[in-house]
Amino acid sequence: MTTITTTSLPNLLHRGKVRDTYDLGNGLLLMVATDRISAFDVVLPNGVPDKGFVLSRMSAFWFRKVAHLIPHHFVAMADDPAAHPYLPANLPPQIARQAMVVRRAQRVDIECVVRGYLAGSAWAEYTAQGAIFGQAAPKGLKEGHKFEKPIFTPTTKAETGHDLSMTHQQVVAMVGAARAKELEEKTIAIYSYARDYAAQRGIIIADTKMEFGVLNGQLLLIDELLTPDSSRFWDAAAYRPGQSQPNYDKQFVRDWLNSTGWNHEPPAPALPPDIVDKTVQRYKEAYARLTGEALSHS
Ligand SMILES: Nc1ncnc2c1ncn2[C@@H]1O[C@H](COP(=O)(O)OP(=O)(O)OP(=O)(O)O)[C@@H](O)[C@H]1O
Ligand SMILES: [Mg+2]
Repeated sequence: MTTITTTSLPNLLHRGKVRDTYDLGNGLLLMVATDRISAFDVVLPNGVPDKGFVLSRMSAFWFRKVAHLIPHHFVAMADDPAAHPYLPANLPPQIARQAMVVRRAQRVDIECVVRGYLAGSAWAEYTAQGAIFGQAAPKGLKEGHKFEKPIFTPTTKAETGHDLSMTHQQVVAMVGAARAKELEEKTIAIYSYARDYAAQRGIIIADTKMEFGVLNGQLLLIDELLTPDSSRFWDAAAYRPGQSQPNYDKQFVRDWLNSTGWNHEPPAPALPPDIVDKTVQRYKEAYARLTGEALSHS
């Protein structure tokens, strides 16, 4: 098993915390999900083997699943023969297996966050201020409380530092009223569909973040979709409001990091092998549960 933490192909467009994006020309991008892992916005020194493989396939799974709700950017996994004509010559198979070919769009600079449950920064805001996303909330809600309806809580896409909450007026000022409405409606529709699907497979999708772009005047779903890097996945069987929920996301890594007393400033400590192993296992189990298939290795 190889761990891919850096890639160097021609025409690098962007290196994020986890993904390396290349320009393929002809309006296409190659998005490589590496095995890097970040926590508290810091990339950890060691990678997690197979993470990129599992997460890029999970994104691909969801793009296909939600295609009836919205057009999306996904064209093909890079190891699919359908992608072959678009790829650089000699793309190593160990990169192709964790990369996807997508259509390039004009990005909407908003992180479209949607929350079905009270967790993370929303829980922190509620305990500090009794409010959720700036709106007064009932007293006595427990951590992990299920909202009656999903809440749209968009944020900026900060170039540096943490993303900031956006008000509805700020979203409208950026994209106009009609597009703002479309972003909110699509985000909630995609989340609700995925949440109901996952619920039948024992996973609660507590919240998630998605991104959109515009291509030929049309809204397009872009980036990664409904992975443990962009979402909170909880084990439905173990769900109990009033605690931090057993989960399939990075909480496990975050808990270990916090147990070391690390102050969330770089450099982060390296993850020990057993934490790395357990993390991969969590991701693979989430994939198997959601898709009903174990991942076969290429
Ligand atoms: N189809 C697309 N067309 C254009 N840009 C896209 C498309 N899909 C994703 N993107 C953009 O490509 C970039 C992918 O970068 P990536 O998510 O790896 O890093 P990042 O967002 O800069 O940082 P972070 O590591 O915090 O996510 C993002 O800016 C994303 O908005
Ligand atoms: Mg990103």
